[in-house]
Amino acid sequence: MSEKYQVAAATPLNNETVERIRQDFPILNQQVFDHQLVYLDSGATSQNPLQVLDAERDYYLGKNSAVHRGAHSLAVDATDAFEDARATVSGFVGAAENELVWTSNATEALNLIAYSFGNASAGIGGETARQFALEEGDEIVTTELEHHANIIPWQILAARTGATLKHIPLLENGTIDYDAAEKIVTDRTKILAFTHVSNVLGSVTNVDFMVKLAQKHGAFTVLDACQSVPHTPVNFETLGVDFAAFSAHKMLAPTGIGALYGRNELLEAMPPFLTGGSMITKVTMTEAQWMPAPIKFEAGTQRVSQAVAWAEAVRYLEHLGMENVHAWETTLGQRLAEGISQIEGVRLLGPAAGEERTGLASIHVDGVHPHDVGQLLDTQGIAVRVGHHCAQPLHRALGITASTRASTYMYNTTDDIDRFLDALSQVRNYFGL
Ligand SMILES: Cc1ncc(COP(=O)(O)O)c(C=O)c1O
Repeated sequence: MSEKYQVAAATPLNNETVERIRQDFPILNQQVFDHQLVYLDSGATSQNPLQVLDAERDYYLGKNSAVHRGAHSLAVDATDAFEDARATVSGFVGAAENELVWTSNATEALNLIAYSFGNASAGIGGETARQFALEEGDEIVTTELEHHANIIPWQILAARTGATLKHIPLLENGTIDYDAAEKIVTDRTKILAFTHVSNVLGSVTNVDFMVKLAQKHGAFTVLDACQSVPHTPVNFETLGVDFAAFSAHKMLAPTGIGALYGRNELLEAMPPFLTGGSMITKVTMTEAQWMPAPIKFEAGTQRVSQAVAWAEAVRYLEHLGMENVHAWETTLGQRLAEGISQIEGVRLLGPAAGEERTGLASIHVDGVHPHDVGQLLDTQGIAVRVGHHCAQPLHRALGITASTRASTYMYNTTDDIDRFLDALSQVRNYFGL
């Protein structure tokens, strides 16, 4: 076993190995209302292991400086750490270093594409950027499954350019209606934006189908990979998508940083979104020229310590092995789905138990508001998310306004799931139903 980690590399995850791994996450070892905390809200944000916290602290203790500018040694060390982090995070998702742009989160990454395309539509970026320009008659297609971060930027882009925004509806179980997709995506489609894994249902999109459909019609693909990259092996090049977005805080790393993946030739041709210091080669009082990608998209002082910490989180996940992480979370997710299905008066949203689904599950409890469910679970030390999970259109399609979501990560045990199921089975009774 390596000294740095609690388990040897690529050790399969089970209750025993996870118990050891949990020593890296002291935050999990606390009492809430006199109960041992059960953290089932990693879909919203995950916890950071000590290795990641140490990496960020070490950066501040030994290297903190502005990157890409200073001529002094500390600045060189900081720049090296920053660019090494880019190599680590881009490698994790099958991308080249110049295909990964740091952003403040996945939301900013999705906005970056939309605003860059909007700028291209306004003539910024010249001839090479014309391929990204939208006009009246063009269409942007997304799905009813999306997080608001993959809906609103396209609404704004459509409003700015005169393009039309369309969406692919869902089947009854909440998965994408692929037959409908074939009719909605046409030669008018310029962008097809869709999620890899639903943050509400845990359903998994057939990316290959969507990419081939988009390519047949010459549309750009944008993948929201927020709920896939942290939990399963993902390679954007193999998936064949043009762009993808994901966030560090959902994969054992700090808040404040996310990333945009873009195929290099596209990033090179796209105009910038945010502008200012660091992203330029020449500025006069009337115009500016910018750096090659990805730096042209990174205006202003960068999130260096967060990038360094994110790279450490990637090393942590690679040490465990993403196949192992995926296998364990599938076990937890199925236990969750099966258990929920057996509780009277509780509806499991999305794919049924036994069908393909990830380690999260959302539910509707008949006659009890999700906020009441969440509060009752909290009094037993169980942390879940309640509300619309930034997916109001999806909830509307399901005929509800809100739901309760339990979402796992590699540090959860089957005991966590059982504590949740046990508490859930008592909710309706508690409210006199
Ligand atoms: C599917 C999905 N997309 C986008 C986001 C937005 O991520 P962030 O808030 O880190 O920008 C989230 C986070 O909840 C998500 O789950």
